[in-house]
Amino acid sequence: MATLRIEECYTRAMTTMTTNDSTSVYKTDLPLPGRRQGKVRDIYQVPAPEGAQPGSSNPGVLMIATDRISAYDVVMPNPVPGKGQMLTQISTKWFEFIRAKGIIADHLISTKPEDVPGLDPQHYPQLEGRMMYGRAAEVLPVEFVVRGYITGSGWKDYKKTGAICGIHLPEGLQECQQLPEPIFTPATKEDVGHDENIDFEKACEIVGRDVMERLREVSFRIYNEGAAYARERGIILADTKFEFGYALDAEGNRTDEIMLIDEVLTPDSSRFWPAEDYEPGHDQDSFDKQYVRNYLTTIVKAGQWDKTPPGPELPEEIVTNTLKRYQEAAHRLFG
Ligand SMILES: Nc1ncnc2c1ncn2[C@@H]1O[C@H](COP(=O)(O)OP(=O)(O)OP(=O)(O)O)[C@@H](O)[C@H]1O
Ligand SMILES: [Mg+2]
Repeated sequence: MATLRIEECYTRAMTTMTTNDSTSVYKTDLPLPGRRQGKVRDIYQVPAPEGAQPGSSNPGVLMIATDRISAYDVVMPNPVPGKGQMLTQISTKWFEFIRAKGIIADHLISTKPEDVPGLDPQHYPQLEGRMMYGRAAEVLPVEFVVRGYITGSGWKDYKKTGAICGIHLPEGLQECQQLPEPIFTPATKEDVGHDENIDFEKACEIVGRDVMERLREVSFRIYNEGAAYARERGIILADTKFEFGYALDAEGNRTDEIMLIDEVLTPDSSRFWPAEDYEPGHDQDSFDKQYVRNYLTTIVKAGQWDKTPPGPELPEEIVTNTLKRYQEAAHRLFG
């Protein structure tokens, strides 16, 4: 999990607030053990169901997609109300999609608060539509990135070295150009600072060659199937990041089973571009956070922010338009 200085952003002490038709959640504080905070998600351990015999049930995790938004690894001080629900909806549909294709097992057990053991009904409203109850994993400390188009840190690396993660690419590529074929560009998961692109060999040293070879194939397959599906619906899936982990047994020990975890093919873990506006040679306006990043770039250029915490408050218009983009992506993909 990357650097968290979220607490610094909590000066507004915002937890939940009710908007017109739903509850916006910036931060949760549930009476469950093992609370952790990602930039976007709050995560808790879920005890095994009461009366469960050792070995008969696996430990769970409860992940709540809040409405926090981060850019440049900094969490913004105000939420994008409804974003968490969009993310959970999109991920859930993709998990179904990946299951239907039989690509790999995943961690998702349920998205219904009633299914989470030991949860008091008074907490259901803040979880509705934005939670995932999953099987707990020992997370592999590598990010599994697939790129079909060259942009972001990949574009920067290519301009400097002609390669990304040790993969040499043809000369003369333009920014955001589609690659001759998708490439697999793993990165480290840094606790502090930005994740770092690494070559395949380095990733093998970290998690083992057999695992890397298998998960590279799995990553390509999910990306290719997902990108084809999205493209028919007017979305270019430019690149994406997957996370995998070993399922745990009832005692919390790692088993041999590897599963797809976290979120999958969302605008937070991927770059979604509207296909009708796609034009290589420059940065793309997108469905994802690029819109917020573009706004922040103007703030940085104006000398009003230096990309370190705390982030600047996002104006109402940016918040509204950001949510619209998440909604539009969800609508195009899954109706
Ligand atoms: N089944 C699971 N078991 C244990 N941990 C999980 C599971 N699924 C996801 N996680 C972890 O939960 C966290 C999700 O939180 P969040 O996505 O907000 O983190 P993050 O700070 O955004 O990290 P990143 O930028 O790497 O995505 C991640 O650290 C992820 O590795
Ligand atoms: Mg994440």
